[in-house]
This record gives sequence, C-alpha cells and structure tokens, in this order.
Amino acid sequence: HAAPIIDPFGRAISYLRISVTDRCDFRCTYCMSETMQFLPKRDLLTLEELDRIASAFIERGVRRLRLTGGEPLVRRDLMQLVRSLSRHLATGRLGELTMTTNGSQLVRYASELADCGVKRLNVSLDTLDPEKFRAITRRGDLARVLEGIEAARRAGILIKINAVALKGFNEFELADMVAWAHGEGHEMTVIETMPMGEIDEDRTDRYLPLDLVRARLAERWTLRESAHRTGGPARYVTIAETGGRLGFITPMTHNFCESCNRVRLTCTGTLYMCLGQEDAADLRAVVRGSEGDEALHRAIDSAIARKPKGHDFVIDRATRRPSVSRHMSVTGG
Ligand code: GTP
Ligand code: 5AD
Ligand code: SF4
Repeated sequence: HAAPIIDPFGRAISYLRISVTDRCDFRCTYCMSETMQFLPKRDLLTLEELDRIASAFIERGVRRLRLTGGEPLVRRDLMQLVRSLSRHLATGRLGELTMTTNGSQLVRYASELADCGVKRLNVSLDTLDPEKFRAITRRGDLARVLEGIEAARRAGILIKINAVALKGFNEFELADMVAWAHGEGHEMTVIETMPMGEIDEDRTDRYLPLDLVRARLAERWTLRESAHRTGGPARYVTIAETGGRLGFITPMTHNFCESCNRVRLTCTGTLYMCLGQEDAADLRAVVRGSEGDEALHRAIDSAIARKPKGHDFVIDRATRRPSVSRHMSVTGG
C-alpha cells in the first residue's frame, strides 16, 4: 500500500498537519471565545496512535509534517512524539518536521526541538505592543514569547512570524512588525482572517483584505515579487530595503485551493480534507478497531476520494455567522 495519495482533482497529498491538542494557554479573540469548552482528555488519540497515523501517511508519500494545536507545546509529553517522528527524518522518508506555535513554551523546548531535527518554526504574533498583545491573546505575555523566539534562534531554528491582519488592531503596525522581524532575521507572513467558530466579537468588523495591507506596506517599502515557495499557501515578496521575505496568505480574496497539497488530522483522530469545509473522516475508530494498517490505508483512500475542490469561506455581513462552525484551534489552521 505504498501508492501515493492523489485526490479526485489530481492533487498529490504530500503535507499532513496534525493538531495534537485543542487546548491553548492563550484565548486569542479572533480564534476562541473566553469560555471555550475543551475536549475531555479521554477523547484524545494517544501519542502512539498519532504516531501510527502519521507514519501511515508518510508511507504513502507525505513529505512534510506540521504539528499544530491549539498550542502544541501544552500537550504533556509532546516531545516524546516529536522525537519518535524524527526517526522518519533520519531515514529520509520525511523531508520536514515543523510546528506552528504561539511561542509561550519555546524557552523550555527550543533546544530539544532543534535536537529532534526541527529546522524552522512558525510563531503566531499579531502585535509587538505588550498591552495590545495581552488584549488580543487575553492571557499571553509578550516578553515571554519574545524570549522563546530568541531561544529558538539561538538553537539554530529559522523563525517565521505569522500575523493575522486585523482591522482596527494591527493594520497600521504591520509595517513596523516587518521592520522588526527582518531586523531579527525572521521571515514574516500576513494572513487574512477566516470565519471559523463562534467568538465573542463580530469578526466581520475585523476582516481586512490583504490587497489593502499590501498597498499600505508599499507606501513604506519596496516590494519585489519573489518566486520563493515553501509548499504552503503563502505568496512571497522580498522587501528591497531589508532584504527579508514577506508572505501573504489570502484565503478570502485570492484562494489557493487548486494547488492544495494537504489534509489535517485532529487530536481526536478526525481527518479534515479541507480547512474550510465540515466533511471529515473518523480515523480513531479505524486505528482502535484494527491491528495492521490495511484498514487505516483503506480509510485514508476513501477519505481522500472526498476531498473537495476548495473551501466555502465567506465573510457574510448579513448573517454574521461563521462559514465553518468548528474553531481554528481544532485543526490548527
Ligand atoms: P509554511 O510551511 O511555512 O509555508 O507554513 P504554512 O502556511 O503551511 O503553515 P502555517 O501554520 O504557518 O499557516 C499559516 C496560515 O495559513 C494559518 O492561518 C493557516 O490557517 C493558513 N493556511 C494554511 N494552510 C491552509 C489551507 O490549506 N487553506 C486555508 N484556507 N488556509 C490555510
Ligand atoms: N483566521 C486566520 N488565521 C487564524 N489563526 C487563528 N485563527 C484564525 C482565523 N480565524 C491563525 C493563528 C496562527 C495560525 C495557525 O492560524 O494566528 O498563526
Ligand atoms: Fe491559541 Fe493560536 Fe488560537 Fe491564539 S490563535 S488562542 S495562540 S490556538
């Protein structure tokens, strides 16, 4: 069963994102409500089960693995999973093992991550103002995140700063954030906010199309189109003045679904074929109901056969309802 995974639109699935926990030590206002109900621990896949599913995907040609959350580093003993998955880096079957994190635990884990072969990390950071940071994350401490980023850099890990563009929040700060990120030797990516899950505010008020962000950045910086691609959805420019790279992720205004190469596994073993669709397959029942991986491979095949052409996100100012009812923290973006 070593056949590569090809979806009905001819797209090869070479990238798996695994949300290892739905929990997070932050409560970013655009991501979660203040009173989030998290999953009971008994519903979670064990680290061994996560490893088994990931390894089945790697056998089928997945070359890049990204751990997400919630906040991946709040899951107890996560480093055990990272270490175990790193065996696939050693054999060369896996090309990249990486993580998207809020940075709060990096002081503690950066050097161990580097030791396991993690070469780059995406760190979510929407502002460099400590008070605004506290307001948007409701819990976070900016200084601690910056120390974590520094620890990762010292460990030799490349950092990409992910900032969600939010109207009335960071729209006029993004140019300064680019200057900071590039000055520190980090890449940066700006992201359009996607309507996922009920939150405590009206997200249509916060939505900012990136064409506008780009035009504003161009008032201060010289943006040069770049052919650089990571296999992710970002399109990049180089900033002439800093020499650094800046990415734009535009699910709402210029979707990139036709080149989609990924599926998402949640911490309960649910496989989502698209971030912006509700359809999913239950792999937990399959791993718990079978010993060999034959049934798992069959379940993967039948799930991929349903991968939709693209997402259904709309910022609907009339209904103000999210397009997708689950929160981003379930699938980790
Ligand atoms: P790189 O490997 O560094 O290119 O990262 P990435 O863009 O694959 O991952 P990251 O976790 O940094 O994702 C950044 C943002 O892009 C997140 O907000 C994701 O929700 C969004 N994103 C990633 N993949 C998809 C996708 O397939 N569809 C949509 N709509 N958004 C995505
Ligand atoms: N829209 C876009 N990005 C989001 N993120 C969280 N919620 C949303 C949303 N509704 C981002 C985080 C992190 C990445 C995994 O997803 O800030 O950078
Ligand atoms: Fe946590 Fe990331 Fe959601 Fe913020 S955006 S609450 S850091 S999962």
